[in-house]
Amino acid sequence: MSESEPGIIQLQAEAQEAARFSYSPYSRFRVGSALLGASGRIYRGTNVENRSLGVTNCAERTAFFTALTNGEKEFVAIAVFSPDSDVPLSPCGACRQVISEFVSPEFPIYFSGKDGKFIRAELKDMFPFDTLHDLASR
Ligand code: THU
Repeated sequence: MSESEPGIIQLQAEAQEAARFSYSPYSRFRVGSALLGASGRIYRGTNVENRSLGVTNCAERTAFFTALTNGEKEFVAIAVFSPDSDVPLSPCGACRQVISEFVSPEFPIYFSGKDGKFIRAELKDMFPFDTLHDLASR
């Protein structure tokens, strides 16, 4: 699916919408994400911070955990957006690890900063040399 396809445009718009619900009083850095499941459903996520800072959950993990909680097992693409970032905001290392648990190395990740111009990458670009990838199915 390319960036210009309606499904991806909608996914990007939903990530932008999700950022409005960010709970980020400590960093004041809002992030939204939208995850497209194989069922066709879209699951939004936002970052949820805590005064014990390490407990913070990123927008990407919130979307995955929400989707999994609702029975979604396969995933098509994710979009990530921050209205507070001057540069395209890509997932943090912890989120890359979590995403890798549930998708193939070709999984597309669209990410954008405040200008709304989404870059497309694949998980393998952000999380290379994942030699543990097939271990879970052994
Ligand atoms: N954050 C995300 O939600 N996703 C990212 O890709 C990067 C960082 C959140 C975590 C924290 O609430 C705030 O942004 C600042 O790091």
